[in-house]
Amino acid sequence: MSFWHPFADMAAVSQSELLIERGEGVWVFDSDDNRYFDATASLWYANIGHAREEVADAVAAQLRKLEAYHTFGDFTNRPANEVCERLARLAPVDDAKVFLTSGGGDSIEVAAKLARRHFVNLGQPERVHLISRTHGYHGTHGFGTSLGGIEPNVTNWGPLIPQTSVVPYDSLEALEAKILEVGPDKVAAFFCEPVIGAGGVRLPPEGYIQGVADLCAEHGILLVIDSVICAFGRLGTWFGVERWEDVRPDMITFAKGVTSGYIPLGGVVVSGKIAEPYYTPGGAPMFRHGATYAGHPAACAAALAVLDIYEAEDLIPRGRELEGPLADGVNSLADHPAVAEVRAGLGFLAAIGLHPEADAAAPARLVAGAREQGVLARAVIGGVAMSPPLTSEQEHIDLLVEGLRAGLDRV
Ligand SMILES: Cc1ncc(COP(=O)(O)O)c(C=O)c1O
Repeated sequence: MSFWHPFADMAAVSQSELLIERGEGVWVFDSDDNRYFDATASLWYANIGHAREEVADAVAAQLRKLEAYHTFGDFTNRPANEVCERLARLAPVDDAKVFLTSGGGDSIEVAAKLARRHFVNLGQPERVHLISRTHGYHGTHGFGTSLGGIEPNVTNWGPLIPQTSVVPYDSLEALEAKILEVGPDKVAAFFCEPVIGAGGVRLPPEGYIQGVADLCAEHGILLVIDSVICAFGRLGTWFGVERWEDVRPDMITFAKGVTSGYIPLGGVVVSGKIAEPYYTPGGAPMFRHGATYAGHPAACAAALAVLDIYEAEDLIPRGRELEGPLADGVNSLADHPAVAEVRAGLGFLAAIGLHPEADAAAPARLVAGAREQGVLARAVIGGVAMSPPLTSEQEHIDLLVEGLRAGLDRV
């Protein structure tokens, strides 16, 4: 087997893969035509569901017209311009500009470099420190790995970027103490997922996100909201962070749901405060950063078609409408002897934490049990997570709960 899967135990996977052959709405089918409810929306991104003709047609039309052309320097294309205009209008960011990338990890690198450059531009080059949270996941690139809060992801690589700190994900006191310890005039930015996803669906405590925004404002620290998972309806709003009305991030990283995964695309919404010097003659020297495929017209055409679907079908609010039904469903499993904790209730995503006595392989057994019932859930450390397509209905949530119950019986 030549394909080395990401985040995979290849010793096991090389004996047995799950070959997904096709998709249809909330379902995917394997090579034996077994049907599964895609309760994870693939990897937290298939928000509109699979195999929508409108998106395929839009991408095909773009590929026939102009399959790709770079956007370095003064080059651009219509889909890239249009998608940035739309996202800038929708984002809860003042005077927003949009820097496009190929995915979430790319976007984190952009945000980290822009944060540091911002302070270079302001004559404060010593402001380089970046703070993030335990359980946080910000991709697997250089800055993103250094900012990671999932222990096994950040160890065994040798030294990472030293000017980074991870603080307990749920404590404003810990964040403030870290800022004071490092020195506020040394801290460039704080990276924060509104609801932590890959780290096991960790909801922020009441007042936490607003408190973070206040602390950042007080100390002149840039607030980077990592909405790679939480945007595009997952929390029931365009960028997730609108759930906290007064919070205006300096940057928002996005990817995944922007195209519902049909073609890879990511980006950073950047506030005017940061972008303005680059847009001003004689302002900051150019931002010497960019990916070959930034503004790829086929990816942007996919995004435009997906944004049209979100709007036409009013899918964005569904993340909020469905959060109660999902939480009710998963909470109905709280009495199961294998369950230690249910984490749900903010957005259309949830997790079950298993009892600490459960062995490290228990999440994989749970997922295997659910899979046999035709439900795809996602193993996370110490538990299982779900984030179904926004097109899901109550009947699918019921199916998910039954699949999870069967999986829990295996634990
Ligand atoms: C919050 C968050 N940030 C960044 C990333 C990295 O995105 P990508 O895998 O597209 O590089 C992810 C991926 O799951 C994520 O959940």
